[in-house]
Amino acid sequence: MNNAPVVCRDLHKGFPSGDVRIEVLVGLDLEVAAGEMVAIVGESGVGKSTLLHLLAGLDIPDHGEITIAGQALSRMDARQRSVFRNRGIGLVFQFHHLLPEFTALENVVMPRWIQGGNRSAGRSSAIDLLNRFGLGTRLDHHPAHLSGGEQQRVAIARSLINSPMLLLADEPTGNLDTRTAETVFGWLRSLNRREGLTVILATHNPRFAGICDRILQLREGRLFPKEPGNGGTNPGLGAFKVNAALE
Ligand SMILES: Nc1ncnc2c1ncn2[C@@H]1O[C@H](COP(=O)(O)OP(=O)(O)OP(=O)(O)O)[C@@H](O)[C@H]1O
Ligand SMILES: [Mg+2]
Repeated sequence: MNNAPVVCRDLHKGFPSGDVRIEVLVGLDLEVAAGEMVAIVGESGVGKSTLLHLLAGLDIPDHGEITIAGQALSRMDARQRSVFRNRGIGLVFQFHHLLPEFTALENVVMPRWIQGGNRSAGRSSAIDLLNRFGLGTRLDHHPAHLSGGEQQRVAIARSLINSPMLLLADEPTGNLDTRTAETVFGWLRSLNRREGLTVILATHNPRFAGICDRILQLREGRLFPKEPGNGGTNPGLGAFKVNAALE
């Protein structure tokens, strides 16, 4: 599948809160080119996760249009959105949401099996991905027997098993120690650069935001460009050994 451009037009999303309604996204526009890696930053509660959920088709906007790889999510019903997501979108969250009763290998291969197709081919792709992430000796470990960084690597491997055209990551390194977070972030950047995978991620970490192609700040329901260096100096890609990652 090709890497996807993403376009949002005039997105509105609010939630009921008692008798009132909190308007979170208010006429938000977004354009991300295929192969771009964009960081969404902003204070807690501004709506970063809300936006990523809409992009993933996990929730629907009150108004406005989301188009991914030329396909309008609003024209899809819930089942079509779910098929579209499973085939084309990789999701990584702060907490990995691995299935505790399954091994690392089973967790990674699951989205492929859900899609149907050849079981053994899915298995060998999952093994390849886990090897690439340095987890070749952890295939049969259950999540409880993996470190936090290993669990997050399994989650990233799982997000890539169906060769997505878009990777959405919500605080992907939020619960990791600084060193592991840098390594995991380096893998994401490397994937983006080597395979041209479109990446949109929410992060509170200005250093990580600073090595993305573009930073957008979510404020008062809309996105505004933010210069790298303004609250997050660009540390240079070498700091994360981006090119060495995944080799
Ligand atoms: N399902 C929901 N029902 C009601 N309110 C919600 C729901 N989801 C989000 N909200 C509200 O919408 C606002 C935006 O939440 P969101 O999780 O998108 O923020 P965020 O920018 O991701 O914050 P953080 O940086 O803390 O993760 C918050 O005020 C939150 O309480
Ligand atoms: Mg959030």
